[in-house]
Amino acid sequence: MSGLVQFRRDGNIGVIVVDNPPVNALKHEVRAGLVEALGKAREDASIEAVVLTCAGRTFIAGADISEFGKPPRTPTTIDVITTIEPMSKPVIAAMHGTPLGGGLEVALGCHYRIAAPGTRLGLPEIKLGLMPGAGGTQRLPRVVGIEKALAMILTGDQMPAKDAREAGLVDEIADGDLTASAVAFAKRVVAEKRPLPRARDRDEKLAPFKSDRAKFDTVAAAYTKRAKGLHAPAAAVEAVRWALDLPIDEALKREREKFMELVADDQSKAQRHIFFAEREAAKVQDLPAGVKGVEVKRAAVIGAGTMGGGIAMCFANAGIPVTVIEASAEALRSGLDKVEKNYAATVARGGLSAVEKDQRLALVASSVDMAAIADADMIIEAVFEEMELKRRIFADLDRLAKPGAVLATNTSYLDVNEIARATRRPEAVVGMHFFSPANVMRLLEIVRGAATSPATLATAVAVGRKIGKAPAVVGVCHGFVGNRMLRLRSVEGERLLIEGALPQDVDAAMTKFGFPMGPFAAGDLAGLDISWRMRKAQGLRAEIVDQLCELGRFGQKTSKGFYRYEAGSRSPHPDDEVEQLIVATSQRLNVKRRTIDADEIVERLLFPMINEAARILEEGIAARPGDIDVIWVYGYGFPIWRGGPMFYADAVGLGHVRDRLTDFATRTGDARHQPSPLLARLAEEGKGFASLTVAKG
Ligand SMILES: NC(=O)c1ccc[n+]([C@@H]2O[C@H](COP(=O)([O-])OP(=O)(O)OC[C@H]3O[C@@H](n4cnc5c(N)ncnc54)[C@H](O)[C@@H]3O)[C@@H](O)[C@H]2O)c1
Repeated sequence: MSGLVQFRRDGNIGVIVVDNPPVNALKHEVRAGLVEALGKAREDASIEAVVLTCAGRTFIAGADISEFGKPPRTPTTIDVITTIEPMSKPVIAAMHGTPLGGGLEVALGCHYRIAAPGTRLGLPEIKLGLMPGAGGTQRLPRVVGIEKALAMILTGDQMPAKDAREAGLVDEIADGDLTASAVAFAKRVVAEKRPLPRARDRDEKLAPFKSDRAKFDTVAAAYTKRAKGLHAPAAAVEAVRWALDLPIDEALKREREKFMELVADDQSKAQRHIFFAEREAAKVQDLPAGVKGVEVKRAAVIGAGTMGGGIAMCFANAGIPVTVIEASAEALRSGLDKVEKNYAATVARGGLSAVEKDQRLALVASSVDMAAIADADMIIEAVFEEMELKRRIFADLDRLAKPGAVLATNTSYLDVNEIARATRRPEAVVGMHFFSPANVMRLLEIVRGAATSPATLATAVAVGRKIGKAPAVVGVCHGFVGNRMLRLRSVEGERLLIEGALPQDVDAAMTKFGFPMGPFAAGDLAGLDISWRMRKAQGLRAEIVDQLCELGRFGQKTSKGFYRYEAGSRSPHPDDEVEQLIVATSQRLNVKRRTIDADEIVERLLFPMINEAARILEEGIAARPGDIDVIWVYGYGFPIWRGGPMFYADAVGLGHVRDRLTDFATRTGDARHQPSPLLARLAEEGKGFASLTVAKG
């Protein structure tokens, strides 16, 4: 018997325990062990019921993802389920932690399910561009009904045990020791000679939807409206519909085929790449073994503007008390009002209860006295982007913060080393670059300064994860990774306008590519004036956007930018004034305008950024290509199903990227477009960026 699955008896009950740390993934040895243990229980006449449970921190939390894409090895998860389901002895799943994916599908194959109080159940396959492939799309709707099943399958979100009990997914919440409760439950089932309910035979929860197809379409549409172009959600809806239309065995067969199609699909490959890249990005490569950060029990944020308020919310949401410091009582009031309004909007949307809102707000303290940071373990500065101001603040922090506290800056561009030099403890200084809106966007660029200590870095990464962010460690340079790449896109966007495109052409090409917003609409949303002021200070100029700013067109905040906006609406409308300005600029610069197609627009905007990313890798500013993918997917809206810019470049082929860049360099005269040495070498060798990660192991 496999060492990962144990079998023991407790009176007339057989107890099967999966023990495959850390999350009891359903790898081949586990599946084989389960089938063997179930066989034993079946053959042994003295065993009258079986409890299936797991050691460690969770019930089976899914498949072993590293097996995806490889030839399936029997017994498969489906074999495990088809061993359990027809058994004449009741099988009870005893769950704790997070029964997810294949784990929940195995539990759905059991006759009864009981769960420990904190259990959270889910089918997260959609997050990897997949759908359940071992009966989940057929058994779950039969157990909880179509509506709840579609919600679980299409969002991938976890359902707490209490809700699962109400939905009928769990028969009982365990009281006290889980295995003991499950054994007692099993004994009752045997003693009372209860029937063996099999999910596959149930029909009562499907009936209302069988007679009302329009209702099915409405519910499904609500969950797929933001999934345009994505293969997995469409496939999952189709599969759940088979629960209404087909005999279950036929539906299960088709579900399997569809699942295998998705596994082989490029979209899912890209999403799986991001899943692994996110986990890798949180690992700091050269951190000495055994380095531990400090536990952040209390945080402080300096500045309650756009970013400071959102950052404070991140801490409050994670249950960490946070003190917000502002320069004046008025600024403080206005910042806290925005935080409160933000929470109120979430309550109104049903995303939070009023009680939870109050609990979170209660964690946010405030002061206009910087001395209030004295007991904070981490302080994040989010004041205006001005070096002198930031240096002053850090000198104060140095004076007031307790020893061992992490001093972080949310700067977008400034030199973290120079900021650190304003203190006598540069080892405690680190960049923690959040993205707007900070309480929503998942990316956290952690900027490692020359003096940043391993413990400071470890604390920043751990806090990032704790508050639900996707941290990626980067080095110091102007704009770090994301904004440094973005800058090239902005320059190229301007060039396209001058050569012949209009903002709406460029934005349409990029949204068609998969970005939620085009670069010009995004510029209008963020405000065009910030970078205009920055350029002016540096003596730089951007032809089109600077003219817009000179006309007072700062974007949505002035109802005019690259587009015009009607009162109370965020929808961009093309504006004749902008078109005339662009055409006049082309004339003034002696450029003969031409039609530029969507493919060229995409290449012109993305390839120079990919080239810059290659330089970023060469300089060691980012450790791995996957880190850059994580940054662009979670911070800049790069479509996750394209896997980020580096994964995308590999898919296109670096030879093509190189050739196009050489062509752009000739046509624009911009030397930055010459292929970087790394990109040129990889293209020459016929390799992709992925080969860099493989080579390093
Ligand atoms: N807005 C973004 O999209 C974004 C994204 C990432 C990073 N950042 C960076 O975050 C920082 C803040 O940007 P923002 O957009 O929140 O700016 P903001 O202007 O909205 O807020 C800055 C706040 O700092 C306060 N402040 C100024 N001096 C202070 C002092 N001495 N003590 C306490 N508070 C003081 C101001 O009153 C203001 O409320 C900047 O460094 C910016 O580059 C901004």
